[in-house]
Amino acid sequence: MTTFSLVALPIVALILIVRHYHDIRNWIAKTTKKIDRCRNGAPVQTPVDVQRMAPYPAQPIKGRERYRVMMDIRKLDTHNWLTLDKHYLEEHSVRNDLLRDKRDEVLQCLPESAEACHEALQEVSEFLCERYPHMFEKVIRDDTQSIHNRMTGERFAIRGSACSGEGIDALEAAVRLTMEDLSILMMNEDGEYYLAASASLFPTGWTPQERIGWTISRLHGPVPLWHQQVANSVSKFLARLTPNSPMERSNYFVEIKRPDENLIEILYRPQGLCEKHTRDPSPSEILIRRERQTFRRLPQSGTILFGVKTYLTTLDQLPMQELENLVREMKTWPDYVGEYKGKDVWGTKVLEYYKTRTLAAQMKDNLEV
Ligand code: HEM
Repeated sequence: MTTFSLVALPIVALILIVRHYHDIRNWIAKTTKKIDRCRNGAPVQTPVDVQRMAPYPAQPIKGRERYRVMMDIRKLDTHNWLTLDKHYLEEHSVRNDLLRDKRDEVLQCLPESAEACHEALQEVSEFLCERYPHMFEKVIRDDTQSIHNRMTGERFAIRGSACSGEGIDALEAAVRLTMEDLSILMMNEDGEYYLAASASLFPTGWTPQERIGWTISRLHGPVPLWHQQVANSVSKFLARLTPNSPMERSNYFVEIKRPDENLIEILYRPQGLCEKHTRDPSPSEILIRRERQTFRRLPQSGTILFGVKTYLTTLDQLPMQELENLVREMKTWPDYVGEYKGKDVWGTKVLEYYKTRTLAAQMKDNLEV
């Protein structure tokens, strides 16, 4: 090779790189993104992608023929213990507002739950960093381990000297990271589980402030048939839960929203879900409010970490089969159960809407034949 080529080639290459700098940069970005997406065979989410993530599928209404309070527990889908979806940022902002304006109402910890609250924050952080590595990262500086939320820019100490806050601060950090509400259940001297700590930002007819320290049995005092039909099974289930056998269950409620209500008022419902003055709601003001509840025994403290994720669907978004199942279940409720669930406020409207949709579907079928 001549001296000319030795000098000229690198110069030409340099000129080409400078001239096509943007194209080359885009190509590298695209290629690395492709490699990222291929890792583990599943797409890897970035902080921006959370806006496009569909919610974890909620359990459909089953349409049971007979009313009974049921435990209906199943093995936890551990890969999805805590979930993220497109509502993360708006709900995070609601959680911020509630923790600023109603901290005592939504967040309570008895002194004996301190260790469990720290353990809960550590478990939550480990899970989130592993499950959503592009949204949450662990940062180790000096002797302190922190979690960095890349979607919001927040950072919380989880281990080490900077993590000497009280249990309540740890539980607060945990629910600022998750979309789930989190509670700690501990066993009392009579062998009964009680609410030892709770960060319940989206409660239905109660607040941690008024019910902290209550046993599970007392918490369910207002629930018709709870004591007769599931109290014993729930006690046994909680006592037998091990760190290796986490479980989950689902619940649904019907909620009425006023046209002028914002997301905080819809999600934070300490007084209940169906005020009597909101009669005659339209189908888009009737919400099916589902809860996915998870139960994990924490290995260090031996306490139970109870998680609740809330999902909202308006009646007019409900698939026809589920609407039919709701109508079937409503008909099986004894009067006092219907009253507890607020059926007198929304029942007639749901039936009317069901009939309208059934008629519309029949007309469509007739036209197509
Ligand atoms: C396997 C365990 C559990 C079962 C089977 C269960 C079942 C239920 C049921 C059937 C209702 C009534 C829902 C409705 O309106 O139809 C209810 C309400 C409720 N549950 Fe649970 N639950 C369990 C665990 C817990 C735990 C661990 C807590 C702790 C925070 C809790 C707190 C509540 C509260 C505060 C209510 C509202 C009660 C009211 O109306 O004042 N539940 N539960």
